[in-house]
Amino acid sequence: MKIFAALCSLVASSSAISATPFPPDFQWGASSAAYQIEGAVEADGKGKSVWDYYLSDKKIAGPDVNGNTAINFYDRNQYLKDIALFKKLGLTSYRFSISWTRILPDGTGKINEKGIQHYRQFICDLKAAGIKPLITLYHWDMPLTLAARGGWLNRDAIGWYADYAKVIFDNFHDLADQFVLVNEPTVEVAQNTLAAEKLAGKDVGTYPPLIPKKENLGNALKSLNHILLASAAAQNIFRKSGYEGALGIAVPLFPILTEKNAIAADINDAEMTDGIMNRWFLDSIYKGKYPEQVLSFLALNKIDADILPEDAKTIHQANFGFIGVNYYAPLYIRHDLNGDSDYAPEFYNPDDQKIAFTGPVRPDQLERLLAELRLNYGNPDVLITENGAAFKDEDIKVNGQVNDSNRCLYIRDHIGAVAKALEQGSKVKGYYVWSSHDNLEWMSGYRTRFGLIYVDYANQERTPKLSAEIYSRLIKGEIIKDGDCYRS
Ligand code: GAL
Repeated sequence: MKIFAALCSLVASSSAISATPFPPDFQWGASSAAYQIEGAVEADGKGKSVWDYYLSDKKIAGPDVNGNTAINFYDRNQYLKDIALFKKLGLTSYRFSISWTRILPDGTGKINEKGIQHYRQFICDLKAAGIKPLITLYHWDMPLTLAARGGWLNRDAIGWYADYAKVIFDNFHDLADQFVLVNEPTVEVAQNTLAAEKLAGKDVGTYPPLIPKKENLGNALKSLNHILLASAAAQNIFRKSGYEGALGIAVPLFPILTEKNAIAADINDAEMTDGIMNRWFLDSIYKGKYPEQVLSFLALNKIDADILPEDAKTIHQANFGFIGVNYYAPLYIRHDLNGDSDYAPEFYNPDDQKIAFTGPVRPDQLERLLAELRLNYGNPDVLITENGAAFKDEDIKVNGQVNDSNRCLYIRDHIGAVAKALEQGSKVKGYYVWSSHDNLEWMSGYRTRFGLIYVDYANQERTPKLSAEIYSRLIKGEIIKDGDCYRS
């Protein structure tokens, strides 16, 4: 991915779009993840994951924030009503994750049949509503037993995950044919680093440590390498088993931006950030090598990341069926003048941009990112596995309505970017809004709402927001004007 100089004129286009470049089998979806929605953390023999552990400590997200109830989605009475809502909105696909510790409570070994039965029932219920499942095998909920053995830092995690993946494929290949192997490895690693810092009582500052600091770089890249190898192992098992379907990793891609006044140190850090956050995945998956600049930096600084010479080739040879793109915002990078002189990137939000919870609102950067995949990475099949936004104080229910105009415009404009990419030849097969519902936003708890559907946490009542109505109209191919995103 190239370093793009920011052009202020590129801020959020407001042109109305039509959804016509989308083929009839395009997958219109929404995404979620087990721990963020299910609740019922002790039901049917579920084992504990790191997130059960993290949120049991009030230093992580404050008192009373945990996944014990979430949006009660484990309950079939509840989720059947939600599926009915999805159907009404016109969703043709739904991305959800399976909780590893519902299937293997101890992380490895004995299979919990009740866990298998729960998800089989859920998939059947989805399909009965005409909604195609997109199953994520792993969305950050590492079994606590395995975290105690180092989690992804341990090369044995490749085998633990591969064994778990085999259980999933053996038990679900007859019901589903598309699987996201892992979700957002870089963000998971950052969350684990942040959790460790919070648990140790450190002041973590305003921005989460999304980009690894120099002292964490070895461990971060070690985990990422093991996650990629674990995914490759799972893909190989799937193929050898003769199952039919497409597998991919959901990678959070961050177009990297610098401003016009950037100096050499800013550019150097921007390039390193691109190597670590984006090309670490794209170059290994599509070119069979890790970015030279990052490897040289590791060698020069004698940082061990447990990377064997053949690892990147192994990842490439797995030949994944698609890439899942999670896109929210670009990252503006500058050099932190208080950090090491050779590597100290920090991200920031320039004053002249519209800012969502996850950063600047820049649909143009989604279009550029898709062009990059098309032109430099062999034009793979793409699923936009997550795209969405949360804006401060926007999700307030008044007179039975939630008029989330900013989210509505955000979704329309990002679908517009996908439409342009399709017209230019990108092979985007589906688009999934993050998220179907408001839910547990990890360490931000329940106050940060990303949903198309508003959830009243006091009584689990659901209210589709204005953005849900607009998304539904976009799915039908309607043109959405700016004014449609405002309702009095
Ligand atoms: C992603 C993550 C989701 C959700 C979303 C919104 O990084 O995969 O679980 O939290 O961000 O912040």
